Amino acid sequence: MEDLKHRITAAADLAELEKIRIEIFGKKGILASRFAKLKEIPGPEKKAYAEGLNRQKEELTQAFEARKAALEREALERQMAAEALDVSLYGKLHLKGALHPVRETMDRIVEYFTALNFAVESGPMVEDDFHNFEALNLPKHHPARDMQDTFYFADGTLLRTHTSPVQIRTMMRSKPPIRIIAPGAVFRRDYDLTHTPMFHQVEGLVVEEGDSVSFANLKWILTDFLRHMFGEVEVRFRPSFFPFTEPSAEVDISCIFCKGEGCRVCSRTGWLEVLGCGVVDPNVFEAVGYKNVSGYAFGLGVERFAMLLHRIPDLRSLFEGDIRLLEQFR
Ligand code: PHE
Repeated sequence: MEDLKHRITAAADLAELEKIRIEIFGKKGILASRFAKLKEIPGPEKKAYAEGLNRQKEELTQAFEARKAALEREALERQMAAEALDVSLYGKLHLKGALHPVRETMDRIVEYFTALNFAVESGPMVEDDFHNFEALNLPKHHPARDMQDTFYFADGTLLRTHTSPVQIRTMMRSKPPIRIIAPGAVFRRDYDLTHTPMFHQVEGLVVEEGDSVSFANLKWILTDFLRHMFGEVEVRFRPSFFPFTEPSAEVDISCIFCKGEGCRVCSRTGWLEVLGCGVVDPNVFEAVGYKNVSGYAFGLGVERFAMLLHRIPDLRSLFEGDIRLLEQFR
């Protein structure tokens, strides 16, 4: 009896316990054979023997149930331990991406103008002489062509040196009123602290029939735009020259670093030059076959804006793809 009980409590797992169960409690098991002996027991002792057997069966059943419950609990605990998730563990660090500062600056510029109903236009980066120069009042051998060092292909096509050819393409395929901006990459043979051979511009062009578009409209929108981008700055229009606009101006803002006091970034002038603009030259309208219209145009360098807005000292660092720079814009 103690021996059987011991075997039950010592069963290592549920499979072994099941074997023992059959051995003890089965139809041909130990208890069954003991009960079978009952009929051989003489009358007077039968009762005591039967009582003894029932007690044994009771005790063994209890021992069995207890062991079974214990083994089941162990099995469950093992399974749970194996499948455990530690929800308090830190996850793997997933680094978030970020917009490149040039992209982000371009988006901000485009957002300003689209909010004022400007459409976004684009044109090819490989241009021809007509769209990049000729139609913009830069005839062959015009000295102003030297202002821009151009990448030429053998067949005479070129990498556009500015986004102004999009003005020409837009005017040639549509009619006034025109109200567009043209963001995109442009190319010049330049490489130093503030120049890279590829950079981005945003061109603007507004054309209306009649003489309703004036320099005053241009002045208003660019002043508002620059304050949108740089905060409460002074805006100054300085007479300048572009072959495709007359009159032309370069636009300065009061230095955002020294508030006009004079510092290294503004070369002690207190002013930062940020864009070029003007009233569209009649020769440009003539080149695209427009009559009795008026308009203004402007062009700006996106990298210049990004450098000023983020205080990036070397323009070239924007195109080195150095993760240490880009991480700072996350
Ligand atoms: N295309 C000129 C440049 O690249 C900028 C400009 C555009 C000036 C439109 C006036 C009008 O410098």
